[in-house]
Order: sequence, then structure tokens, then C-alpha cells
Amino acid sequence: MRIRTTIEEAAATIADRLAVGIFDRFDPPSGALARSSVLRTVESLIESKDMTGNLGETTPILGETDFKAGSLVLFGLGDRTKFGSGAAFSAGAAVGKRLAGRPRKTVAIVVPNDFEGDRLAVASALVQGVIVGVRGPDLKKNEPARHEFEELIVVVEPNSGIDPKVLESTIERAQVIGSSVNWARDLANTPPAEKTPIRLAEIVAERAREFGLSAEIWDEARLRQERFGGLLGVSAGSESPPAFVVLEHRGVESDAPIALVGKGVTFDSGGLSIKPSASMEDMKADMTGAAVVAATLVAAARLKLPVHVKGYLPLTENMTGGRAMKLGDVLTMRDGKTVEVLNTDAEGRLILADALAYAVEAKPSRVLDLATLTGACMVALGPKVAGLFANDDAFAAAIAASAAETGERVWRMPLDEDYFELMKSHVADFKNVGGKYAGAITAAKFLERFVAKTPWVHLDIAGPSWADSDSPTQSVGATGCFVRTLIQWLEKP
Ligand code: BES
Ligand code: MN
Ligand code: ZN
Repeated sequence: MRIRTTIEEAAATIADRLAVGIFDRFDPPSGALARSSVLRTVESLIESKDMTGNLGETTPILGETDFKAGSLVLFGLGDRTKFGSGAAFSAGAAVGKRLAGRPRKTVAIVVPNDFEGDRLAVASALVQGVIVGVRGPDLKKNEPARHEFEELIVVVEPNSGIDPKVLESTIERAQVIGSSVNWARDLANTPPAEKTPIRLAEIVAERAREFGLSAEIWDEARLRQERFGGLLGVSAGSESPPAFVVLEHRGVESDAPIALVGKGVTFDSGGLSIKPSASMEDMKADMTGAAVVAATLVAAARLKLPVHVKGYLPLTENMTGGRAMKLGDVLTMRDGKTVEVLNTDAEGRLILADALAYAVEAKPSRVLDLATLTGACMVALGPKVAGLFANDDAFAAAIAASAAETGERVWRMPLDEDYFELMKSHVADFKNVGGKYAGAITAAKFLERFVAKTPWVHLDIAGPSWADSDSPTQSVGATGCFVRTLIQWLEKP
């Protein structure tokens, strides 16, 4: 999708469709519509409650207007006092999703300016939303269900006080971020047979190198040499060998790197502790953490962010083959710790343990992992909020602040040491499951054992990584969550 920016009155923009936002109940009337011939139409739509201005709403206005565009589509911006990047992203996604239903040449979208706040940030989020909205999960349909526009025109009205050059570069960056989110989504939406660990490693390394990152792939033999007992244990039940990818973006000379680690289970059957079929349906997306880390690194390179970041992707299937790890097996992890496996479905922590232990050997200033780790986190926080766990308050606050800026939702969870008692083993240093209670926390306590003293944040994204159903603002399937937040944070970590 070509994207171009223009600073002009919305009424002057020539396009097939012009999308204009309205705040909550259009009260008071404001923006481009208040000055136009459609004012009356909009007011009567509001009066009859055919339109409310709620986020996600899109209402086409057909017929003659004093806008030069072929026709208008009004979109809800929600509560004016709560408006910001988060709402702008959702609103943009709704416009993208709604208009992508059939092929379109030029779609223009007007950046709202009748609110208090950062207009450039909102312009960026709005465009990211449109880019994400025009992309669906229809990767394998013979007749695609969504069509990205040939051209998207981003219209900023002259009274917004935005410099055209700054606008242009902001939108260029928005396009990089939006397409990175989509890449993460596409990877997670890809059928598992097409992204076996080695194949996924190659897909990731190829795109990373294309954008100037260094990428290294370890195969099974190398993983054995490097004593990645957790990753090898999980992969033992699979016909497809595991892989480990290390990506690096050096935006500054030397400096301790920031380490990002992502869970990369390309299919989680549960292993011998097998999942019921319904719980297995979406387990192709159990590599979302790895996809998000890869997409963030590629974006960091494309945006030339002045940071040194390393990405670590442990990739494996979790299957039930004849050599699968068994309950009672004891794995020796990268750092020498021993783990008794009492539930093979608690596999994410086993592969992350090796990756985290290895990542902190490079003495990073901080380490952050993302993982679709526990159903328990969804029980605790619901399907849209990620659990945030940290051994460092400042780091936790920085990630929470970046999430607040993008509108992605996190909630800090406790990590008191007594939770770890649930993980004691009679046989090994500890076991891989805690029992009935506090499942998201015991999983995090397990991970904490492998980061030494490094400031660490763990995001349990089991909920927000996936949308179970379609909604006006979000497509069913993979969401690519936290690519935007991580880039926001890496802009000034
Ligand atoms: N990949 C799952 C967690 C998950 C569940 C992600 C639902 C997304 C949606 C993970 O590997 C898992 O199976 N966790 C177990 C842990 C348990 C056995 C301690 C779980 O949550 O049931
Ligand atoms: Mn599992
Ligand atoms: Zn899993």
C-alpha cells in the first residue's frame, strides 16, 4: 500500500473514499464535518442513534457533498477526553477493516485535530491501525477477503500546526511499525506445517538479513553442544528438529545490549500431557513471542533506532512422538539447573529457561521475554491484558509507560518468593509445574531463576496474542501484540 501525506482542508482531498472521525455523540460538533454541508446529516444520524461516535463504528455517507472525495465514511473516535494513540489505533483499524472488504484505489483518512494531545502520535497510530486493519487472517484463501488499498492518503488539516516534513517522516515510520505488526501476525497465522522450527528460523533470518540485521541459526547438533537441555527436551517428541535464532541490531557502538527473548513453540499439542482438541486449535500461534521479537528487531533496524538489541528465539514443536519427554524425566538446562518435568504442557518455560540463561551470559543491561505462557494468566486478567512480571521496578514502569502510550494493556503481577515453594521437587532442583493456584505467577517464578540478577520483564501474552472472534476494531486470529509497545520503548529505553 502506497502511503502519502498531505496538508490541506479535508474537503479539498481527492480520493475514492474519505474517512473522517467523529467524537462521542458529535457533541459539540467539531472538525471538518462541522464546517461542511453534511453537518445536518451527521446531526440527524446522531439524533436517531444510527451513529454514536463510538470507537469501531464506521458509517458510509453516500451522495453529493461539498467534499471533493467520491464519498465519505465517518468513523468513531470515542470519548474526546480519553482520546490518544490507543484509541486512534483502534479507530484506524476499524476504517481499514471496513474498507478493505473490496479493492479500492485511493482512500484518504483525516487525522483528527479537535482534541487535546499529541497529534503526530495520533497520526502515526491511526495509520498503523489502518495498515493492520486492511490485513486479515485470510492467508490461504483463493479469493482474498481483504484488499489493501492501492493508495492511502493521510490528510492533516492546515490548522493542525504540523510541519509537512515531520508528518512525512512520522508516517514513513508508522508504515514500518504497522507492517512489522502485520509480519508478526502473518507468522502466527501461518499453518504449523509451513513453519516448522527450521523453516521458521530461515524465514526470520532471511527477512532480518534483508534489513541489515545479523542472524545466526543453531541446529540440533549445535544445541546439544551448547547444552540447551530444555529446548531439546521439548523437541524430543517431534519429527521436526528444533532451532535457535539469534538476531542482532547494532544501532550504537558497543554498549551492553538489550536482550529480547520470545517463546517459539510452532505447535503446542501439550505433548504427552496432551491438550483436549479445542484447546489445541489455536496452538499454531504459540510462537507469537518469537514472532514479536523478530518483528521488533526488524523494525528497530529499519527505523535505525540508536540502540543495541539482541533477539533470542528458541523454536520447537511440542509433540507426542515415541521419543517425547515423559513425566518424571529430568532435564538439565543450559545453566546446569535440573528440572523435573511433571507436565509436558508446561513446555514454554523449559525452552525460555535455556534462552534466558544464554541471553544473560552476554551481560545485557536488561532482558525482556514475551511468551504465550499460561492459560492461568487469561483466567487472572482476561483475554486482552498481558501479565507483566518483573524483578526491577524501574524496568517494569518503563514498559508499562510505553504500553500506556500505545494503548496495549499490561497489568503488573506479584512475584513474592513464597510462590516458588509450589515448584519444589523431591528429585531435581525444581519441577516445571506449581499446581492449581497462581499458575501465571509460578511460571514467572520459574523463569526468574534463569535471569540471574539482570533487570528482567516477562510479558505473559497468552490472552492478547490472539483474538477469538472478529470485531470492528480487531481481526480474528493473531494480533501481533506488543510490537508497537516495544518499539515505543526502544525509541528511548
Ligand atoms: N501455550 C500454552 C498456554 C496458552 C494457553 C497460550 C491458551 C494461549 C492460550 C502453554 O504452553 C500451556 O500449555 N500452559 C499450561 C501450563 C500448565 C500445564 C501448568 C496451561 O496454561 O494450562
Ligand atoms: Mn503447553
Ligand atoms: Zn505452549
